[in-house]
Amino acid sequence: MSAVVIVGAQWGDEGKGKVVDLYTEHADMVVRYAGGPNAGHTLVVGSEKVVVRLLPSGILRPGTVNVLAQGMVIDAAVLVGEIDALGARGHQGVGERLRVSDRAHLILPYHIVVDTLRETSAREGKAIGTTKKGIGPAYEDKARRTGVRAGDLREPARLAARIEAALEAWAPTLRALGGEVPDARAILAEIAPLAARLVPLLCDASALVDAAVRGGQRVLFEGAQGTLLDLDHGTYPFVTSSSAVAGGAAIGAGIGPNRIDSVIGITKAYATRVGAGPFPTELTDADGQHLRDAGAEFGSVTGRPRRTGWLDLPALRYAARVNGIDGLALTKLDVLTGLRTLRVCVAYDTPSGRTRELPPELFDDPTSVRPVYEEHEGWQEELSGVKTLDDLPATARRYVRRLEEQAGVPIYLVSVGQERRQTVVLHNPFFGRAAAP
Ligand code: GDP
Ligand code: IMO
Ligand code: MG
Repeated sequence: MSAVVIVGAQWGDEGKGKVVDLYTEHADMVVRYAGGPNAGHTLVVGSEKVVVRLLPSGILRPGTVNVLAQGMVIDAAVLVGEIDALGARGHQGVGERLRVSDRAHLILPYHIVVDTLRETSAREGKAIGTTKKGIGPAYEDKARRTGVRAGDLREPARLAARIEAALEAWAPTLRALGGEVPDARAILAEIAPLAARLVPLLCDASALVDAAVRGGQRVLFEGAQGTLLDLDHGTYPFVTSSSAVAGGAAIGAGIGPNRIDSVIGITKAYATRVGAGPFPTELTDADGQHLRDAGAEFGSVTGRPRRTGWLDLPALRYAARVNGIDGLALTKLDVLTGLRTLRVCVAYDTPSGRTRELPPELFDDPTSVRPVYEEHEGWQEELSGVKTLDDLPATARRYVRRLEEQAGVPIYLVSVGQERRQTVVLHNPFFGRAAAP
């Protein structure tokens, strides 16, 4: 296995950062293929905790090439800030192991202004709860063909012309939202020092990644956000604006879909969502608070408290289908410790009867569907020292096995804490069963 996609199977924050960092021990290259600084992927190595936003989660492993591919939207100021922050913490050579697609689109200040004004002026119930990082407007520019790409940073005259054209296109929206149309010269002055830092990193990412895959190197494609936030397959319109699903890796990195060998879906042992939109298994009681407190469920980008709820198996089966998930990484099992009774949604009652699938009504009329729960006995033991599944209390083992059976795909990994060593690896995508060779 050479090319492996790691994708969020829920609403984001499943633990992609931890799992990518872990598997990167055996990878040559890590490629972020979608989204931008709306992502916050947490890496915990010993006593150090790093939250990466644009940088791929392989960045802490020397010897690994990290690629920001063309499916991403890149805020140059955030990226340079991340590189410098890691440097200041003593991580050497971050810039040297980083490559940026010259076709990735740039997030510019007006995207952030539009995103923010829309969110703050939205009518009751209409706000998406975005991260206000300019993601939606930057992808709108891309689709409208008024976007500015990283490669434009190489040519100041072309850059200026493209920014002026984009500003002209955004001017009516900005005015309607009560904002001001910024001055192109001010934007150019702000971006010039950032361009000097990014231009040396630019490359044809498609060619680079394709050569690595075809040369038999081990390449991890790191998803951002999650399946139910995907622009096509998520709970539209409460979604992000990119192709978060595994198929997005082929488009976003510029490789053929037949080059991908395996897809790993990541799911927490429960569910969370940050931002607005349907979340049928949401808990607003003491159990929900337990999950938020024990799981430290606060947004890694915005600090917002995450909504919490029980695991939704129809949603997981849906994620398995739309991503073609071969195996699951089950994270945050330790967070369930202390709950007397656990529930998992196994089906939905809908106006047309009971279904094991994610009902179509969920997308348009979520109040018309009701989750059907199965109850499981909980456990009180701490799990953070667990090394094998046999170390788990019997009730936890039964919970894991039941999820696997119901999800219809094997579990490749069980995570019981933030750190690398707090992981039971059952299957390594590069080597097959068990951990390393
Ligand atoms: P990502 O966006 O998918 O990379 O996930 P985030 O980093 O936004 O959120 C996941 C959080 O859970 C981070 O703080 C991780 O360090 C943490 N985490 C990951 N796996 C585990 C686990 O198994 N147990 C616990 N307690 N925390 C975990
Ligand atoms: P990672 O990669 C969780 C959510 C936002 C909002 C919606 C649209 O860390 O899992 P956007 O700013 O993208 O236009 O917001 O998507 N969202 C995320 N939620 N994790 C993320 O990323 C997210 N990225 C976006 O909260 O509901
Ligand atoms: Mg996150």
